Amino acid sequence: MCGIVGYIGKREASPLLLNGLRRLEYRGYDSAGIAVLNGELSVVKQKGSVGDLENALQKSGDLLSGATVGIAHTRWATHGDPSDRNAHPHLNNAGDIALIHNGIIENHAALRLELTSHGYTFNSATDTEVLVHLIDRMWKDEPSLSLEGAVRRALRHVEGAYGLCVISSREPGTLVVARKGSPLVLGLGDGEYFVASDAAPIVEHTRKVVYLGDGEMAVVTADGYTVKTVENIETEKLITELDFELGEIEKGGFEHFMLKEIFEQPDVMHDVMRGRVRLEEGRVRLGGIEDYLDRLKQAKRIVICACGTSWHAGLIGEYLIEEFARIPVEVDYASEFRYRNPIVGTDDVVIVISQSGETADTLAALRAAKEKGALVMGICNVVGSTIARETLCGMYTHAGPEVGVASTKAFTAQVIVLYMLALALSKGRTISHDEIALNLKELTRVPEKAARILELDSQIKSIAEIFKDAKNFLYLGRGYNFPVALEGALKLKEISYIHAEGYPAAEMKHGPIALIDEDMPVIFIATRDSTYTKILSNIEEVRSRKGRVIAIANDGDQEISRLAEHVIYIPQATGPIMPLLTVIPLQLLAYHIATLRGCNVDRPRNLAKSVTVE
Ligand code: F6R
Repeated sequence: MCGIVGYIGKREASPLLLNGLRRLEYRGYDSAGIAVLNGELSVVKQKGSVGDLENALQKSGDLLSGATVGIAHTRWATHGDPSDRNAHPHLNNAGDIALIHNGIIENHAALRLELTSHGYTFNSATDTEVLVHLIDRMWKDEPSLSLEGAVRRALRHVEGAYGLCVISSREPGTLVVARKGSPLVLGLGDGEYFVASDAAPIVEHTRKVVYLGDGEMAVVTADGYTVKTVENIETEKLITELDFELGEIEKGGFEHFMLKEIFEQPDVMHDVMRGRVRLEEGRVRLGGIEDYLDRLKQAKRIVICACGTSWHAGLIGEYLIEEFARIPVEVDYASEFRYRNPIVGTDDVVIVISQSGETADTLAALRAAKEKGALVMGICNVVGSTIARETLCGMYTHAGPEVGVASTKAFTAQVIVLYMLALALSKGRTISHDEIALNLKELTRVPEKAARILELDSQIKSIAEIFKDAKNFLYLGRGYNFPVALEGALKLKEISYIHAEGYPAAEMKHGPIALIDEDMPVIFIATRDSTYTKILSNIEEVRSRKGRVIAIANDGDQEISRLAEHVIYIPQATGPIMPLLTVIPLQLLAYHIATLRGCNVDRPRNLAKSVTVE
């Protein structure tokens, strides 16, 4: 989704801004632009990549040089196609105010009409452009206002979500930023300040940051900053230290971030458990929820809300919590939860799961649940993210920054957190101390097993070679492996653009079986658990219709090699552990199919890393 970078200080702004945009490329975008103040307001923007923008800057000669204040943006089209004119920054008609914006202005049509009637002309089809004209209008109405004052006035008329950053040649030493819904972070350097939509462009310059809250504005100069609410009330802000290193957001020798993150999983698994799994005591210690554990255990019902891959982790969470802790669980798409007037009350616990901690739908579900009086708990990866801050209690996944748009290591980290949570909720209630200890021991064996699966990379790549031109894929699994089938299909479709469906294997005969023929690869997750023999029958059904079977099976399973064209053998584990292992070959298969098809895995078309609009 769109990315924002701003700089004010003593260094040349445009190289810093360009570099910042590169750090934000992972979020997904279709155009990019920069505006700086170097005596006047100079802008370069266009459709295409940050690399294309850099070429355009080189061609423009010295257009942006000599500036120590500037803003830059990567746009992910919502209103208006990806094009030069729709790229940000947007300018007012006089060309002396420039603005970049993440989010959606919901009343843009009405504002556009009104501004047009006052003589403003629009140069783009975006919702954003109304903002810059509105600021101009406020300033014209009251010329004694500062840039801050004009922005503040303008925001009173705006409905919707925004993270925005404004500069003006009328007040060249100031950068004004405001946030409602779309995240913004302020990086505090030595005599210089950075603004960004996430910390990735900031961490190489400073570790000290301030997260803007909803409804807050910051006015930043080279000498300092103030934070106030949009209503002009000064607010005390906490300075936070970033918890990751620059190296964590670089590729470290891998061809793509996604591959790097798949391979990081054994280490991430250790990190998620570190300090939490107490094998010698046979228990888990979950600091972030400790004070609420009794209330969580007494929940009449747990509702898990999330989107996409995090929703798949939530489905596994349902199986885990119901199996271990025997508390009824429902899993809802966050986007549906908020609009269906759900029955949730003070006896319920709502768990929101979000890698980024900024997903608009998940955030809205969390707020709706809070309003209804539920205890709201978060499972997030990004420390200090909005969801992490707005939940009453929660657990970080500690997966490190996830840059690849297709989520991989965050998913396995979420599942481990849910596994630990399920065991913590069962303690003293539903399963014995010894059973908890046994299940924890199983968990601690996962990183080593995951590392063994990663050694199958070249076998998986050769399977990808065979199937890379398929038009459709079916993914089937049962029990704990059903959500993994959904996740495997999602991974494939989002990065390779091949249509893929995940189903519970038994559901196949209720419809999808009609699709099966010799052109249809079917991936079965057929590990040895309580549904193993049933899965074998499902494989027979596919085979008898000439479907091409790829199976994920456990080491030593001879029977499966008789039925499947290709078998990927993975280590044995208990049912509840299995998703943490079975998902890895599916991540690798999706990755290789996509790269063999020439797809840009780290920047899949139409996708954004952090979906901060509804
Ligand atoms: C898929 C993917 C998305 C996200 C979804 C929710 O690979 O990454 O489906 O899982 O957009 O994002 P978060 O977890 O940040 O709320």
